[in-house]
Amino acid sequence: MDWGLQNRLAKIINPQNNRSLMLAVDHGYFLGPTERLENPKKTISPLLKYCDSLMLTRGVQRTSVTANTSVPMVLRVSGGASIIGEDLSQEQITVTMKEAIRLNVSAVAMSMFVGSKYENQTIVNLGRLVSAAEEYGIPVLAVTAVGKELGKDARYLSLACRIAAEQGAHIVKTYYCDDFEKVTDSCPVPIIVAGGKKIPEREAMQLTYNSIKGGAVGVDMGRNIWQSDNPVPMIRAIRSIVHGNANVDQAFKLYNQLCKENKPNKQNKNKPNKQNKNKQKT
Ligand code: 5RP
Repeated sequence: MDWGLQNRLAKIINPQNNRSLMLAVDHGYFLGPTERLENPKKTISPLLKYCDSLMLTRGVQRTSVTANTSVPMVLRVSGGASIIGEDLSQEQITVTMKEAIRLNVSAVAMSMFVGSKYENQTIVNLGRLVSAAEEYGIPVLAVTAVGKELGKDARYLSLACRIAAEQGAHIVKTYYCDDFEKVTDSCPVPIIVAGGKKIPEREAMQLTYNSIKGGAVGVDMGRNIWQSDNPVPMIRAIRSIVHGNANVDQAFKLYNQLCKENKPNKQNKNKPNKQNKNKQKT
């Protein structure tokens, strides 16, 4: 593998333990001001030092992340659809490699929509992006986006992950599912698991633990961290599973301890999360 590409990958997936904790804050690219990511700078700042890499768009990188950081950036370079538009899968590549280099990113990321109306367009775009990125030694993270009509099951996810790897993606992001080993075993490149919708903290820790046990290198988690009433304790608990080999009981204990020590930040304190309010007492 080319030195530059290998070096960038090593910044995202720690070569010592083959683990990775990516913080996802790219949601606004099609969701607009997502709950608790309305002000990206406020959401990102307290969490930045606890993640191995940050997944975001160029707009958020420029406006909301300090250029003094040593945290590697995973830049989303696809877009073109919105939550109220006709079809979420109608994405194109919206950022050039020149721009990615100018932003000094460690990887570029795009979504591919296997089984959707625009499947062909997004798979071809992935192949083209890999060719363009490899010229500069930049790894590509393929996000296996799942349409509403497609189930998050091992049969479908292994199909999507394998297609991404065959197109040359260097890391594949997917969802955890039953029989997850089937997905990791049949994908020749590292798999990182997306957190998905907000669930109770302990369940998100269980998801992280199961994903790693099932062969993933880690998680690319967003909402389950920054939509928590206690985002810093949450990312630190998730980190203890990814890098400290903590089990779920140990991570949850750490979370509760840190919650007592840390007051929730203002942005989160002022606006209790609806899901948390209804379903959870921590
Ligand atoms: C959005 C993404 C997100 O980065 C991904 O879904 C991870 O965030 P979350 O843990 O909130 O699901 O790719 O398309």
